[in-house]
Amino acid sequence: MQFKYVIYEKNDGVATITLNRPEALNAFNDEVVNEVLQALEDAEKDENIRVVVLTGAGEKAFSAGADIKTMKGFNALKARELSLLGEKLCSAIEKLEKPVIAAINGYALGGGLEVAMACDLRLASEKAKMGQTEINIGLIPGWGGTQRLTRLIGKTKAKELIFTGKIIDAKTAEQIGLVNMVIPAEQFRETVQKFARELASKAPIALKIAKALINKGADMSLDAAIALEREGFGVIGSTEDLQEGVTAFIEKRKPVFKGK
Ligand code: CAA
Repeated sequence: MQFKYVIYEKNDGVATITLNRPEALNAFNDEVVNEVLQALEDAEKDENIRVVVLTGAGEKAFSAGADIKTMKGFNALKARELSLLGEKLCSAIEKLEKPVIAAINGYALGGGLEVAMACDLRLASEKAKMGQTEINIGLIPGWGGTQRLTRLIGKTKAKELIFTGKIIDAKTAEQIGLVNMVIPAEQFRETVQKFARELASKAPIALKIAKALINKGADMSLDAAIALEREGFGVIGSTEDLQEGVTAFIEKRKPVFKGK
């Protein structure tokens, strides 16, 4: 698939979506969002794809957020539309039935961080910098940041980041639980692909159900979420992949999962 602002590649079960608008630090406009949505749709449909990686082109940015230049002369309706656009993207990532990894290669600011937070895992280059910087232009996060950041790192730190608009480095982000791991810059892209390929070798149906349970369960009562887990566990009980995993364990070999 050919896009204007996105590079879309597929290798070894991993689809990599690279935001490619480096002249604006990969800021999101309508076209960028729509192209990422199309790439996600393709990755969902393609049975050979088991994991998606979302990253930014160049050394400097994952994404510097929503395109600030489009906000000149804004009004309430346009702001609401922008909020809906980002939410559509974040929701598509969360609902995708495959793990999505944000590979944060540089700045992830405002909407850039919000999109990364909708991903299942966040791997950061040691050069990555993150922040909900909207307050600095008189705005608040509008792509779910007030909610997803709070759910990820708690009210205390979420308020600090959103109220001050400060930019934190990768190590600090790891310490507060915002990213899963920090990777040396020179090995970043290679390590991310290796990590993604490893994830792609896991049982796809188990990954899909685990993702849905964790995402849905977070907004449910513990009793209801545990009941849902039981049903998911039940579904997995009938998969060929479970039998393959058990047989491989007994035969002391590596399992080969087919997503069946
Ligand atoms: N929108 C549009 N263009 C952007 C942009 C953005 N979010 N961020 C950077 N750019 C553009 C700059 O305007 C500049 O282009 P020009 O040379 O044509 O002016 C180019 O990218 C390079 O940026 P800088 O020259 O500013 O680079 P720098 O190294 O000096 O600074 C930076 C880097 C600290 C990331 C700075 O660019 C910055 O603060 N960017 C804005 C980050 C931000 O506040 N994002 C939040 C946006 S609002 C939002 O996302 C709302 C929401 O919740 C959805």
